[in-house]
Amino acid sequence: MKFIRQFHIILILIWAPTLVFGVKESLFKTCENSGFCHRNKYFAESIKNEGSNYQSRYSIAPESILIESKLNTKIIHGQIIKDIPTLAEDFILPFELSILEGNNIRFTINEEQRHIADIKAINITNYRYNQTSDWAFVTSELPYLAENLFKVEIDQSKSEVIVHYGESNEYKAILTFNPVTLTVFYNDIPQVIANHQNFFNFEHWRPKESNYEHLTVEETDYGMFEDHFVDSENDKIPLGPESIALDFTFKGFKNLYGIPEHADSLNLKDTTDSDQPYRLYNVDIFEYETNSRMAMYGAIPLLLAVKPEISLGLFWINGADTFINVDKTSNEEDSSTHWISENGVLDFMIIIDKTPANINYNYGLITGFTQLPPLFSLGYHQCRWNYNDEKDVLDVNQLMDKHQFPYDTIWLDIEYTDQKKYFTWDKHKFPSPKQLLKSLDHTGRNLVIIIDPHLKTNYFFSDEVIKKQACINDSKNTTFYGHCWPGESVWIDTFNPTSQPIWDSQFEWNNEFFGLDSSNVFLWNDMNEPSVFNGPETSAPKDNIHFGGWEHRSVHNIYGLTYHEATYESLIKRTKGNTNRTRPFILTRSYFAGSQRTAAMWTGDNMSKWEYLKISIPMVLTSNIVNMPFSGADVGGFFGNPSKELLTRWYQAGIWYPFFRAHAHIDARRREPWIAGEPYTSIMRDAVLLRYALLPTLYTAFYESSKTGIPIFKPIFYEALTNPKSYSIDDEFFFGNSGLLVKPVTDEGADRHEIYIPDTEVYYDYTNRSLPSINVYKLDEPGYIKKDISLQDIPALIKGGHIISLKERYRRSTRLMVNDPYTLIIALNNNGVAEGQLYIDDGESFEFENSGELALVKFSATESTINSQILEINDTFKQKISSIKIEKIIILNSKSNKSIESISIKQGDEEWQAKFDGTVDKKTIIHNAKIKVSESWDIQLIYEPDHDEL
Ligand SMILES: *[C@@H]1O[C@H](CO)[C@@H](O)[C@H](O)[C@H]1NC(C)=O
Ligand SMILES: *[C@@H]1O[C@H](CO)[C@@H](O)[C@H](O)[C@H]1NC(C)=O
Ligand SMILES: *[C@@H]1O[C@H](CO)[C@@H](O)[C@H](O)[C@H]1NC(C)=O
Ligand SMILES: *[C@@H]1O[C@H](CO)[C@@H](O)[C@H](O)[C@H]1NC(C)=O
Ligand SMILES: *[C@@H]1O[C@H](CO)[C@@H](O)[C@H](O)[C@H]1NC(C)=O
Repeated sequence: MKFIRQFHIILILIWAPTLVFGVKESLFKTCENSGFCHRNKYFAESIKNEGSNYQSRYSIAPESILIESKLNTKIIHGQIIKDIPTLAEDFILPFELSILEGNNIRFTINEEQRHIADIKAINITNYRYNQTSDWAFVTSELPYLAENLFKVEIDQSKSEVIVHYGESNEYKAILTFNPVTLTVFYNDIPQVIANHQNFFNFEHWRPKESNYEHLTVEETDYGMFEDHFVDSENDKIPLGPESIALDFTFKGFKNLYGIPEHADSLNLKDTTDSDQPYRLYNVDIFEYETNSRMAMYGAIPLLLAVKPEISLGLFWINGADTFINVDKTSNEEDSSTHWISENGVLDFMIIIDKTPANINYNYGLITGFTQLPPLFSLGYHQCRWNYNDEKDVLDVNQLMDKHQFPYDTIWLDIEYTDQKKYFTWDKHKFPSPKQLLKSLDHTGRNLVIIIDPHLKTNYFFSDEVIKKQACINDSKNTTFYGHCWPGESVWIDTFNPTSQPIWDSQFEWNNEFFGLDSSNVFLWNDMNEPSVFNGPETSAPKDNIHFGGWEHRSVHNIYGLTYHEATYESLIKRTKGNTNRTRPFILTRSYFAGSQRTAAMWTGDNMSKWEYLKISIPMVLTSNIVNMPFSGADVGGFFGNPSKELLTRWYQAGIWYPFFRAHAHIDARRREPWIAGEPYTSIMRDAVLLRYALLPTLYTAFYESSKTGIPIFKPIFYEALTNPKSYSIDDEFFFGNSGLLVKPVTDEGADRHEIYIPDTEVYYDYTNRSLPSINVYKLDEPGYIKKDISLQDIPALIKGGHIISLKERYRRSTRLMVNDPYTLIIALNNNGVAEGQLYIDDGESFEFENSGELALVKFSATESTINSQILEINDTFKQKISSIKIEKIIILNSKSNKSIESISIKQGDEEWQAKFDGTVDKKTIIHNAKIKVSESWDIQLIYEPDHDEL
């Protein structure tokens, strides 16, 4: 949340009345008025104008190439020479080329001469920021590819280096010396060429006084030493120009994805004709626009390029302000991107593999996979700014039960604190938080409270942070003061290791605030872009200084991650030694590559309008394909008051978001789901009940993602790579690997709905759990099916070939569902077979990791058999779940016209006849199956003989 900055509007109204329509835009920089982007755009344009005559100023010195054997791997070192015609001195840019596990190739370019000691601005570290990877990567021990798995050649003429890698040498990278290009081949076909267009630019350090001599004709000096943007004129840019830029041509790829966060389509748009490249700069953007490439709250600089047989990931390892131009105008099947970052080392990784899912896996090996969340956090979250006091919270808690809405968590926004002082309670509104938590616990529920990084001045906690010099500093290297919710504030610098013990101290069991002897309180980290109400672009000035003497400029996009990681550390420590140790849950607004390891994200402050419901689908899809699957949008929209229809449709869509939370602004009318009244309330309840029924499937999807990085909200093209049309479908999705294909209704008054089926597999209608009857679709070629729909319909299909698990009993919360029986839905495919997985653990502790207390079950079926195989189980855990049954099995078989005569079940030494309903509408239901989920079993289906056979 954030308020609009009144004084800005006033300034604009007085000085530039014609800009009133663009109030929001005018708060944020564009490429044109960002010095570093402007300069690189100009540079690229002048090179384009020169055409093939252009002679690059950059080349690799052949004699600089050195192959270092290190840690069982090889690293190729060398130097790129930057030659400025007007200067005697050349600039040396040392580079490193290495190969990491997962066939990831990494290229890093630094700058040798940083004569910064010559100037006086010396409260700043004088080399380029090179620690982005320390934050983004999962370990500091890089998983280098073993030396014997790849081969390096330097060609005879000394004009290029060739690296062969991959299990069967299917990869090859060629680094040419002049011009400097890096081409990566897969099966001898070039897939990507870095610097194909010669846009590589590396602004070397130079003194302001002699800048002129350092310029070449293709450059401009716009904004090198001063910031022309009205809100950041005070930025002294003490280190002068430092930008880095590089272009990449993707061979045979027109479909590009990723680089969130933007409120835009899944498939990236061409930006050549717009003055709005994609921007990565974490900001608190007030009432963001849809269909926009403007910066938002988070940044993950991972781009995916996908074609039927090959996928490619480009990970631009940089946390500074970054603009990305996308060019799809080439007549060939190629596209290209131009990346421009304000500073830091140039560092990127290229990942090539057969499928986008493999890219997710290989990227996950480097940055880590999403943590398996506690099961409760996959339930429904009830939030608003604000639940006013204890009574309000408990009333909502009770009304949820009265109206039979399952839910797991109620949230407290900033108003629970004493004057927005985090780690305090407002003692009038919340006199007995311990009691409150106990009451919630009693019904199996949790509390999430907000703790932000801005700290109100003049209270015990900010005093301590200031005293211990753990704040973000201003450009003079003294404590930075700015404005946020509490008024004057300081910001904890979570880059500083000193901050961690200070933060931890507030989470301890004996702490006055958190010592609540209860483990049902979890965290919400908001405003961590960071949001600074009176700062440029509503954030911190770029010349602020962090621990280590780094300018904020160098680390801006990483700050949010350091903050929620500090919270995670504190929560982990808090739970240590507690036998009821629960996995932490943290929701963050700001994030970076690697955030998936410790937090969930949501798409920030959306609006109660249909277009925001619609755009939430591609936004959550994009988050998922860059390995940040635990994501969702505020159900109902944050700002404004949704119509009853919109609210209902949003619940029906929101149940599929991996993170499912309703939230509302303080000025919005109350909208807990029973308020709308009938028929809306019942329809919303059905939606929430469906979410809860599907939790075993969702939890299994999280388990799979935590191992492989596979999206949970999965784009259609992941399962239809040979179908070109599927590449741009972003209003529907698969729900993990479950085969559920969902297209939420996002249009007002919709009574017809079209769902795109991307292949010729059989699909079973699962709209409203396909009760009472079921439609079966099997198209001769991919295309749309049309359905009449009413408000109560949640359109969904199950793709043949899948087996999904449910728990269908109504319970107040996930904790109370633990011992409930399962239902299986078996959806046979065109060949009459189906498969599925079910993952089970206690849903809250780390025992699955520590002592292997988990079960992984594989189900398979044909027309005449169904069986379960226990892939993994621990004795202790087997005991714990021994009473949990599979109760109901629904068999969907599009092909069979035969009737089933009998069904026998065999588990261990026992065998019995199943009770079942005769086949109706291709559907057979086994009731009261009494099968233990913890042990393997077999089912035989005996059909009545065909009439023909008689
Ligand atoms: C900047 O301030 C921090 C304390 O906030 C201090 O540790 C650091 O040494 C200072 N840097 C310089 C160059 O004085
Ligand atoms: C970053 O650069 C500095 C200075 O060149 C060097 O001492 C340090 O080891 C580098 N750190 C990393 C993580 O590469
Ligand atoms: C560097 O830090 C010192 C101590 O905080 C401060 O007095 C000085 O003004 C700073 N220098 C610059 C150039 O900002
Ligand atoms: C753990 O949970 C049990 C049962 O819910 C409770 O009795 C016990 O006090 C808890 N222990 C701790 C250390 O919180
Ligand atoms: C499995 O359960 C046993 C108890 O039967 C326990 O001792 C062991 O540590 C557990 N974990 C694994 C990985 O086997």
